[in-house]
Amino acid sequence: MNINNTITLTNGTEIPVLGYGTWQTTDFEECVNGVKSALTAGYRHIDTAQMYGNEHLVGEGIRQSEVPREEIFLTSKLDNTNHGFVKTKKAIDESLNCLGVKYLDLFLIHWPVVEGHEHNWREENIETWRAIENAYDAGKLKAIGLSNFKVEHLENLLPHCRIKPMVNQLRLHPGVMQEETVALSREHGMAIQAWSPLSPISRMQDNERINDMTDKYKKSIAQLLLRYSLQKDYISLTKSVHEDRIKENFEIFNFTIDQSDMEYLDLWKWEGDVFL
Ligand SMILES: NC(=O)c1ccc[n+]([C@@H]2O[C@H](COP(=O)([O-])OP(=O)(O)OC[C@H]3O[C@@H](n4cnc5c(N)ncnc54)[C@H](OP(=O)(O)O)[C@@H]3O)[C@@H](O)[C@H]2O)c1
Repeated sequence: MNINNTITLTNGTEIPVLGYGTWQTTDFEECVNGVKSALTAGYRHIDTAQMYGNEHLVGEGIRQSEVPREEIFLTSKLDNTNHGFVKTKKAIDESLNCLGVKYLDLFLIHWPVVEGHEHNWREENIETWRAIENAYDAGKLKAIGLSNFKVEHLENLLPHCRIKPMVNQLRLHPGVMQEETVALSREHGMAIQAWSPLSPISRMQDNERINDMTDKYKKSIAQLLLRYSLQKDYISLTKSVHEDRIKENFEIFNFTIDQSDMEYLDLWKWEGDVFL
């Protein structure tokens, strides 16, 4: 992370290290107001997806905020029903129309393996990526990448890429480290984005060591988890529909978690199943 709280992707694009997520926000008021509140609070990075069904609302929130489009880093992701060269090409134009923008700052393949396509995901990802590369060449997408691609999926796709993916967006937080995938992605130049960084909140509330940390840093558990994510060199995505939490989650640039507390969080165990 540099002084502007951004990371530079391999093609020179600057991406703010904290993004406002919009998953599970399909209510008009919640989504439009959430995006506006985030932009007012200082976020300049918004994450949506075709699958969230809210691109039109995210676009509306951006327009209502009156923050100039060029100041905002805007990401969307390909729906699972749109894999393949022809469908992907069309879906990118649909995202641009829905959002009401001329370009996206980042576009990702949301999931590598689509239900019902377990037999042909290898070929399909290669074709999908080819359409994404073409849209990048055409200037519709300023940066391109992947999401939820694990080692097997990366090893299949990477040898066929004319333009290397610049990002891999993964579920990452204490208890979910995905070390091998992170290492391989970084080896190939990808920046790492972390989704659902606040997942452990409820499980950490009665933890004495965590409560000591909230006292010591004078920060909430949410702020600790987001700061942890930044100190792991992830680009962290967080979502709230509440203005006070949106602001709280942005106040993470004025403290540093020390090494021993980072190590504690690195080793914290998630009990039970976790969806990846
Ligand atoms: N690539 C993928 O497959 C994928 C998957 C999932 C998510 N994502 C992206 O990543 C973004 C972040 O993930 P996420 O939505 O799971 O976000 P998150 O920030 O990890 O968690 C959001 C949840 O935490 C609550 N919350 C937010 N701030 C809080 C605070 N300060 N204190 C207590 N609770 C708080 C929210 O509730 P309230 O809204 O009620 O405040 C919401 O229930 C998504 O929105 C989406 O854009 C990508």
